[in-house]
Amino acid sequence: MSVIIRADTIGKQYKSGDLVVQVLKGCSLEIAAGEFVALRGPSGCGKSTLLNTIGLADSDFSGSLTIDGEEVRGAPEKTLQQIRRTKIGYVFQQFNLLSTLSVVENVMLPLILLGVKAPDAEARARELLDRVGLAHRITALPFTLSGGEAQRVAIARAVVHRPRFVLADEPTGNLDSVAGEQVLTLLEEIVRGGVSVLMATHSESALARCSRVVAMKDGQLVV
Ligand SMILES: Nc1ncnc2c1ncn2[C@@H]1O[C@H](COP(=O)(O)OP(=O)(O)OP(=O)(O)O)[C@@H](O)[C@H]1O
Ligand SMILES: [Mg+2]
Repeated sequence: MSVIIRADTIGKQYKSGDLVVQVLKGCSLEIAAGEFVALRGPSGCGKSTLLNTIGLADSDFSGSLTIDGEEVRGAPEKTLQQIRRTKIGYVFQQFNLLSTLSVVENVMLPLILLGVKAPDAEARARELLDRVGLAHRITALPFTLSGGEAQRVAIARAVVHRPRFVLADEPTGNLDSVAGEQVLTLLEEIVRGGVSVLMATHSESALARCSRVVAMKDGQLVV
């Protein structure tokens, strides 16, 4: 099976003044197409930092990171932007919908950034919103949505551009158990469609849905 993400001894540090905090201490991980992988570990161990690094939040890390066969460390910003916009989807604990855009506009946005014409972007966004059970809420503004609805919109937005993988940072952390199960079922459907999902989570029921669990402790992945 093809490897979509290959992280090899990734290191990441944050500097503030003279203080250097080494958050990731040599993380190696491979994720194949269509895998649903959970990342668990105590608060502060570096889960979000690892997701952000794999999500190309910045290029200031050590080690090697290959996405879809392409080495990204040291790549120019333009290349990183292109990979972020075409290959990666992100889902956050706080949903992060844009408050002044309607539901359908939020979902269209990644396509608009790729230069897709608005009517085509809207058609694709509507199709996905239908699939996540929100066809009736397309004109709503985010503040009128329940947490579960907002997260389903965020998932539609994360996959609208047909990424190779989705990074989900505690996607059920702000949801009640019913909404959380719905979100996990959607993520499973995405995985069945051949997209890989790497999900940081503290939730036992979320861990149970994954095909593999990777544990993290103090900036390292423990086998
Ligand atoms: N931008 C930053 N600048 C400085 N330190 C940071 C920054 N981001 C994270 N850290 C530090 O890195 C460490 C790991 O944080 P991270 O958010 O990755 O942990 P986490 O495993 O996701 O925790 P949680 O389960 O609480 O979400 C923490 O000590 C945190 O304070
Ligand atoms: Mg975190």
